[in-house]
Amino acid sequence: MKKRFVDPFFPNRPVDDPNRFEGRKTKVDEIIDAFFQTSNSNPSHSIITGERGIGKSSLLFQSSLLAAGNQALANKFNFPSEETKFNFHTAWVDCVSEQSLENLIEAILDELQSSLKKHVKGWNLEIDIAGFVKLSKKEEKEKSILNLVNQFVKEIETVYKELIKKGKDGLIIFIDEIDRLDPSIGIATFLKLSTEKMSREGLKKVIFFCAGIKGAVQKMGTEHASILRTLKDIPINRFDDEELKDILKDGFMKVGATYDAKVLDKCAAFSSGFPEPTHLIGSEILTVSDDDHLDEEDFEKAKKKVVTEVRKNSLETKLKGAGSGKYQLILEAMAQCESENVQNDFISKKIGYPQNEYSTNLSNLVENDIIYKVNRGIYAFVDPLLKEYIKNFGVIK
Ligand SMILES: Nc1ncnc2c1ncn2[C@@H]1O[C@H](COP(=O)(O)OP(=O)(O)O)[C@@H](O)[C@H]1O
Ligand SMILES: [Mg+2]
Repeated sequence: MKKRFVDPFFPNRPVDDPNRFEGRKTKVDEIIDAFFQTSNSNPSHSIITGERGIGKSSLLFQSSLLAAGNQALANKFNFPSEETKFNFHTAWVDCVSEQSLENLIEAILDELQSSLKKHVKGWNLEIDIAGFVKLSKKEEKEKSILNLVNQFVKEIETVYKELIKKGKDGLIIFIDEIDRLDPSIGIATFLKLSTEKMSREGLKKVIFFCAGIKGAVQKMGTEHASILRTLKDIPINRFDDEELKDILKDGFMKVGATYDAKVLDKCAAFSSGFPEPTHLIGSEILTVSDDDHLDEEDFEKAKKKVVTEVRKNSLETKLKGAGSGKYQLILEAMAQCESENVQNDFISKKIGYPQNEYSTNLSNLVENDIIYKVNRGIYAFVDPLLKEYIKNFGVIK
């Protein structure tokens, strides 16, 4: 029997160790610049956007480490050390669905309070959370977003002044999964009004640093405020194959496994630019291999296991959620295509309908994140594993 080993891959959690964070150098550079600007009173509110599973939370978390003074990632990329030494106070909140605006602001203040007590020596200021809760319990008509903004900025001001007195660079509020919020709660307006007010009142070293799924974030907002007008967009894209291979090489090296070069190619192709399947397949290939050398046969076994066991339930749910009838036919056709990118003509031929009779279905599949538009008339699966799943189990008839 093979010796038990600590899995060097982590498909289920963002990257915490800066040394295991691959690629994204230019984005890290942009983030360092945003912090640099902010520490020099030029507040640079930002949002990391990208597809689901592309690595937003990982990059956001690495940013929070950098902001608080951990230079490991900056050093790894050889950025000059004196330019990347930050000393911000940071607070982190995750949004949840059906959250109200008051609840989000409360969560920020709560988190701020406890992080200040924990990380700032001799902190003895109390944030008036009770006063805020009182305000948020008032009748709807008595608490406009403006009231919330005023109260929020007042609390931030108190904290800010004390932080600056204590020699901090400023304050960064990290907000992950902002796309989970319902746009109608007024999140875009809140961000717009509070950032403007903070700037007017001289709180120039406080920023929001957020992350969210691209499409959803674009939709958040009203005529007067849109998140992408208030926050600078830092879009992140799919990884190229070399970067995905670096994730694999790193993990294999950690456990002393050797591999055929082909294995790296196949794993990278299997992942379609997404880091999550890379971690999944990396983890499984180490599990299925019966020696310390990984070959193509191991890859095939691992791929099968990921699709038929590890991710079977979630893929099945995803496929069901895509809709019935023509939706399933389109996906079936796409799964039969040899190449990752599928032309409209190919789909038409397979399903036997002219394009105008299923273009709405295509748009809905794109809208629901099942497929994406690569180019005009060319589509691909968002999750490459779904394609493998369909090849194994077929679609839902
Ligand atoms: N730069 C990276 N290097 C290595 N692995 C990464 C990187 N970015 C993301 N991952 C991995 O990919 C998976 C999805 O990342 P995550 O940050 O949770 O994505 P998102 O927040 O966009 O859904 C996680 O397993 C994470 O560890
Ligand atoms: Mg995330």
